[in-house]
Amino acid sequence: MTYLLALDQGTSSSRSIVFNAQGHVVSMAQREFAQIYPQPGWVEHDPHEIWATQLATAREALAKAGLQGRDIAALGITNQRETTLLWNRRTGEPVHNAIVWQDRRAEPTCAALRDAGLEPLVRERTGLVIDAYFSATKIQWMLDHVPGAREAAERGELAFGTVDTWLVWQLTGGRLHVTDVTNASRTMLFDIHRNEWDDELLAALRIPRSLLPQVHPSAHLYGETLPEWLGAAVNIGGIAGDQQSALFGQTCFRPGLAKNTYGTGCFLLMHTGSHAELSRNGLITTSAAQTTPTREYAQEGSVFIGGAVVQWLRDGLRAIKASSEVERLAESVPDSGGVMFVPAFTGLGAPYWKPQATGTIVGLTRGSGAAHIARAALESIAYQSAALLQAMSRDVQAAGGVPVTELRVDGGACVNNLLMQFQADLLGIPVVRPKVIETTALGAAYLAGLACGVYHSLDELAALWQVERRFLPTMPRGRAEELMHRWEKAVRQATLD
Ligand code: G3P
Repeated sequence: MTYLLALDQGTSSSRSIVFNAQGHVVSMAQREFAQIYPQPGWVEHDPHEIWATQLATAREALAKAGLQGRDIAALGITNQRETTLLWNRRTGEPVHNAIVWQDRRAEPTCAALRDAGLEPLVRERTGLVIDAYFSATKIQWMLDHVPGAREAAERGELAFGTVDTWLVWQLTGGRLHVTDVTNASRTMLFDIHRNEWDDELLAALRIPRSLLPQVHPSAHLYGETLPEWLGAAVNIGGIAGDQQSALFGQTCFRPGLAKNTYGTGCFLLMHTGSHAELSRNGLITTSAAQTTPTREYAQEGSVFIGGAVVQWLRDGLRAIKASSEVERLAESVPDSGGVMFVPAFTGLGAPYWKPQATGTIVGLTRGSGAAHIARAALESIAYQSAALLQAMSRDVQAAGGVPVTELRVDGGACVNNLLMQFQADLLGIPVVRPKVIETTALGAAYLAGLACGVYHSLDELAALWQVERRFLPTMPRGRAEELMHRWEKAVRQATLD
């Protein structure tokens, strides 16, 4: 039997999954780790804990499967993107905690960059908008605030990495300082057209080039792990940021194929082929996983608060005791009774990009109860995703591209049938849930499998993808449009526009 190991380092937990060559889950292990909130709007992770939990889950997943490192053809890494680490190349010691993608501390730097007129250059080279979400201004913050960091960086003593880079550094005992195109494309320092770090942006952001890792395609024989970690040296054959990895795991290899991942946030990505389309509707352009040096691109929209709204119902409002209760509570009423909930707890991401927006509930009446709010909260996940797909459709139409005809879904909240049906109703296209919903990890395993010869073509992978359930739209289009209209109105209230 052939096995592949995926290391899935996410925002709230580290997970490892062993897959067989058919793409089925053989075993899985997961560990949560601490979220550090030094002050409002700041989010950090301890780099040592990231590595320790990741290694522990890899060992546990192997043990559960009754396997050892030598039984693994290759491992693939997929990771929370943008989260930024800086460490000393000689000692391996981080100079600061990892600054997490959700962290907003670099917003003033971003405002200054916008004021300096850098937006067109950033958009054209990186496909991104200037936002504290991406790595570049987090690096800058560390260089400017950690005593001695800038001087050490200028002497070439420090290394920058996203989480994939940090894990490979650990796995190889500091021998490799690498990343893949998908992770590089989230730094705001990478020219996605040339697949190279961009000197002009580095200069504008005052970031020394010596900090940066080498960039490779996502499926690539990066090197081997030290034998001591998993009992044998294991090939590292794949790296991809988690959303691009999920796009790959959903076998969205052609223009017009799209997936939405329903996690803490929601991430909707559509493959656009070998052409980097720049959005006119608030989306970003990003590198899709590349299996050869040939460029591949996707359009992306990110919703910052997706499934996290259910956590707020549980921990903030205390309307439910466990997240799993939300579907039952929401189903206890036929609809939200006119309540609209815009969960802009950390501003609004694509397609609105309103960092100052705040959470807003509108349409309350004497008849509104916890069930209506729960339903509106759940529906807000679908509304935000529908707004993203509408923006994508407008871009596709303007460019004469291939429209999205179905949406493939994954992530924790895709098991919620009420949400998936409402999503299909709003979109007016089928929402398709595959049999294996661990598509983020699966994508990394597939990339590793391609690099080490377990798989030989993308067609072979596409043939492994299987549907579990297809949600067909049943709501009249007029009603869906009216609801979207009301949603946009509620968004305007949340942003005070
Ligand atoms: O861009 C952030 C994204 O990669 C985080 O994903 O699944 O760790 O919340 P997740």
